[in-house]
Amino acid sequence: MTNAANSGPALFEDPTADGPELGPTGRPWPHIPEMHPPSAPPTRAHIIAMCNQKGGVGKTTTTINLGAALAEAGYRVLLVDFDPQGSLSVGLGADPHSMDLSIYNALMDDASVDEVLLPTGVEGMDLIGSNIDLSAAELQLVSEVAREQALSRVLTPLRSRYHFILIDCAPSLGLLTINAMTAADRVLIPLECEYFALRGVALLQRTIDMVQRRINPELKILGVVGTMFDGRTLHGREVMERVVEAFGDKVFHTVIRRTVKFPETTVAGEPITTYASASPGAGAYRVLAREVLSRCHDE
Ligand SMILES: Nc1ncnc2c1ncn2[C@@H]1O[C@H](COP(=O)(O)OP(=O)(O)OP(=O)(O)O)[C@@H](O)[C@H]1O
Ligand SMILES: [Mg+2]
Repeated sequence: MTNAANSGPALFEDPTADGPELGPTGRPWPHIPEMHPPSAPPTRAHIIAMCNQKGGVGKTTTTINLGAALAEAGYRVLLVDFDPQGSLSVGLGADPHSMDLSIYNALMDDASVDEVLLPTGVEGMDLIGSNIDLSAAELQLVSEVAREQALSRVLTPLRSRYHFILIDCAPSLGLLTINAMTAADRVLIPLECEYFALRGVALLQRTIDMVQRRINPELKILGVVGTMFDGRTLHGREVMERVVEAFGDKVFHTVIRRTVKFPETTVAGEPITTYASASPGAGAYRVLAREVLSRCHDE
């Protein structure tokens, strides 16, 4: 094993190593291939949109930490903040208020992508930031021709520069999220493991189906990831069971447990993979990255 994720003191026990033990989703852990560095420079990025119109389910946390886990393994990653709240930017230590140019300028003012790209503290991972300006774009786009394709026009030329482009969506199914689904190849749905987790998910699925039928025939659901899971409670396990009943194999075997480390990372402005590299939360996002890689390669 050569990747940083599995070397040195940051060793995280591979949950898939011991064979058919039941995982936190109630299914046996399958074999998930180890993380390998990319075999070639980027040619055509996989574009993944993190979507759930429910707020506070872990979209931004998953964007940052999945991105960081992929970058740590050597992949070139671009994170796109597509939420006027700018939480992704804040979570990576950027200040949305003092940001000169953001995704808004690339969408609406034809700013060049190189003007809006920001480096992050993680090697190999860049950011296009966002701030409240983006909420104006949603209104301005309404009267534009091909209004659903605005983000796709910005991201398409960047595909050859990254292995992965992850889009952090706002908690809405409005025109911005439709733009993200139009630009993406895959949707990743974070679901908070609590009683109402599945409420609203049917509408989310119908929206994905509609975009797939009318605008982006390639769009598919990459997977559903349970977040803020508490495996010690019967409740947590029951919710996970219902999620698996609803989504079957689409549910990632990795679940992200609830830990105060994640809110701490937002304050620190860095991913958990650097803030607390040896923590179970960092380990979980590395295993999720392995699952994402193997699903993207199998397609
Ligand atoms: N596994 C976790 N354990 C504990 N807290 C978490 C976990 N994941 C995320 N959080 C915290 O929960 C809050 C919401 O998470 P996050 O911002 O990622 O959700 P979101 O879906 O992007 O929210 P929004 O819909 O507002 O964009 C944040 O304070 C975050 O730090
Ligand atoms: Mg968010």
